[in-house]
Amino acid sequence: MSVIEKFRTMEYGPAPEDPKESFLWLDRYGRRFGHFIAGRFEAPSEGRYFDSTDPSTGEKIADIAEGSAADVAAAVRAARAALPGWQRRSGHERARFLYALARQVQKHSRRLAVLETLDNGKPIRESRDIDIPLVARHFYHHAGWAQLLEPEFPGYQALGVVGQIIPWNFPLLMLAWKIAPALATGNTVVLKPAEFTPLTALAFAEICNEVGLPAGVVNIVTGDGSTGEALVKHPDVDKIAFTGSSEVGRAIRRATAPSHKRLSLELGGKSPFIVFEDADLDSAVEGLVDGIWFNQGQVCCAGSRLLVEESAAEKLLRKLQARMSTLRVGPPLDKAIDIGAIIARVQLERIDGLVKQGIAEGATCWQPEIVLPARGFYYKPTLLSNVHPTSIVAQQEIFGPVLAAMTFRTPREAVELANNTVYGLAASVWSESVNVALAAAEQVKAGVVWVNSTNLFDAACGFGGYRESGFGREGGREGILEYLEPAWFRSAPPVKPSGGNRNGLGQADVANPIAPIDRTVKLYIGGKQTRPDSGYSVPVYGLDGGLVGEAPLGNRKDIRNAVEAARKAAGWARSSAHLRAQILYYMAENLSGRGGEIAGRLAAAVGEKAAEDEVRLSVERLFSYAAWSDKFDGAVHSPPFRNISIAMNEPVGTVGVVCPEDRPLVGFFSLVLPLLCAGNTLVAVPSESYPLVAGDLYQLFESSDLPDGVVNLVTGRTSELTKVLAEHDDLDALWCYGDESLCAAAKALSAGNLKQVWSNEGRSIDFSDPQQGEGRWYLEHSHQVKNIWVPYGE
Ligand code: NAI
Repeated sequence: MSVIEKFRTMEYGPAPEDPKESFLWLDRYGRRFGHFIAGRFEAPSEGRYFDSTDPSTGEKIADIAEGSAADVAAAVRAARAALPGWQRRSGHERARFLYALARQVQKHSRRLAVLETLDNGKPIRESRDIDIPLVARHFYHHAGWAQLLEPEFPGYQALGVVGQIIPWNFPLLMLAWKIAPALATGNTVVLKPAEFTPLTALAFAEICNEVGLPAGVVNIVTGDGSTGEALVKHPDVDKIAFTGSSEVGRAIRRATAPSHKRLSLELGGKSPFIVFEDADLDSAVEGLVDGIWFNQGQVCCAGSRLLVEESAAEKLLRKLQARMSTLRVGPPLDKAIDIGAIIARVQLERIDGLVKQGIAEGATCWQPEIVLPARGFYYKPTLLSNVHPTSIVAQQEIFGPVLAAMTFRTPREAVELANNTVYGLAASVWSESVNVALAAAEQVKAGVVWVNSTNLFDAACGFGGYRESGFGREGGREGILEYLEPAWFRSAPPVKPSGGNRNGLGQADVANPIAPIDRTVKLYIGGKQTRPDSGYSVPVYGLDGGLVGEAPLGNRKDIRNAVEAARKAAGWARSSAHLRAQILYYMAENLSGRGGEIAGRLAAAVGEKAAEDEVRLSVERLFSYAAWSDKFDGAVHSPPFRNISIAMNEPVGTVGVVCPEDRPLVGFFSLVLPLLCAGNTLVAVPSESYPLVAGDLYQLFESSDLPDGVVNLVTGRTSELTKVLAEHDDLDALWCYGDESLCAAAKALSAGNLKQVWSNEGRSIDFSDPQQGEGRWYLEHSHQVKNIWVPYGE
């Protein structure tokens, strides 16, 4: 046989990683693990264990403690007990612990990588070269935040005890994403790993002891969804951070609604991988390999929807099929393997079921002729083409090695298709034209966009979603804020219960709708003063109990119209920051000019002195946010690759705003202005006690050139209108100021489209104090960060 023939027929020899060291480690624990509570491994209170298995063989690896509510409670107690001591330490001391964790992860990196591959089935090449190095990087980066916390976040404090629930796809990496920022900011933690993959979390527990981390700062309770549920419902937990499926994310949103628990959710995705005709197609093919076959496609930000320009489609798919035929699927401990095992039989069946449904809906299925191992859970890399944009395989997360391909003709159509799912986690855009690529990156609704690259992660660059992919960010400065709150906020007094109006709305006069009276305001929708759909206005009474006017009783239909008008005004986001500043300054000028007259009317509701104060403070607030409009800029990160990552502060979108009752003018402006200066469009419900303020507000908007539809005003009963706003699927966020029950209802009802809800938690905010009433805390909530990764070099 000639050398050439030999070369052509040459097969890869096996190149297995030796798992001996990891097995020895497992043996040290007798292959049976308890929960890690207060620095010790503790047997489960009910004595029950479950198996952790190797998905590449189906064989059992170890017994894992099944966490009961009592185990969760013990862990929360340990975290609470450790909190004061942990918080007394200086940022520098905490930084030293995080640094030590990073060093220790590096020291044990090979053992951790092998354990991860054994437990999860991912190729050792990935756990060794991607997962574990990123884990260490995360602890290093956050050691830095611990060191810099006080100067960088003055006036903020830790939330307390944090419950963290993670999935099985990147077990140790997700642990690092959760634990590193929590510890850096002075919180203590109870973490529940996924039931399929608890081993590296338990190995990390041992590392915590090795570096002398004080007992109780990190606690790990293993178990399934019911253990997670116990953690979510535990009353002494201050925040839940969750990564996993959207269904469970929704359940957690509802479960935490009645409490003050902060929540961040990193959920699913159906991320577009957009290839323009002028892309380097060979690079795009390699990008697809990383985009959808990395970790067997079990990646929340997998590039699972290929959108390719029609003129390049045939060529790209041909190249892709050729490349797919060279992918090696097999035992994940083999260093030459590209695709390892699927996590579990249930997931394998889910993937296969969805692929079959896709085929039934008209997709063409192509898989390479490769032989899968006889045992273990494997799935061939799969290409579905001719996929209809509404097909289940184009809409639903498959979480497996399956690519759904569609074509487009114009950049506009590409963006429309890209945004045509309920998700918004990530996107990848391929074009040799920087203009085309960045234009698409700007328009795609996703928290992360990779230009001519895919699946790049770094601790300095925030990661997280839009829409039903969840809210909150992990990594970067924005990730730190998920674990902090202003120090004054926790102890702020409760607001007076809403509806207990000192004055406020009376009942509609059913017999005599729209009674003629001097001061009757209207709704303000799409730049027009409109009558309410109900046809009713209600009397408004002043402080002295006398009738001061009539206000329209808005209902569901009015809110729907207002949301539609606000969405149509989305061009506001693309107007220049300078223009937005000019309009806010102009509003301040007009308010100042008409201040006496407006305060005169407002005095009937709040008293003379308070009315004057409100007008003066409102002018100041307008100046503040006009100033901020062109100054709350993003950042440019330099991750350790040949990339820059542009962290853009984007508006959240269309936002509902439920305004405070007792500060009709300055309360309204304090919530509305940060959103406006960020470029959001709004549907606002003015104070229920004094809705007549709407009349002054829309006159102000009209005389200040605010574009139609940017702010819409619907007056009426706050509790009814809040419910409609919370349930509305076209709102991206809801800011709700009210008593505890109103805030809880807003959060619970928002679970449908998982809109982010920011509330005062039933606490009173002193809007006359600029430290409480304005500034970065508001701006941080009125923006969300999109990271656009741009490569450079040859
Ligand atoms: P899952 O959402 O059920 O599990 C994630 C974590 O949440 C696990 O630790 C689990 O024990 C815990 N959990 C489950 N129910 C809970 C509850 N009611 N309260 C608190 N914690 C609970 O995800 P699963 O079943 O493992 O995977 C199902 C699908 O979810 C996948 O096919 C995939 O589409 C998606 N998924 C998305 C992930 C992502 O990173 N976005 C990660 C894992 C799954």
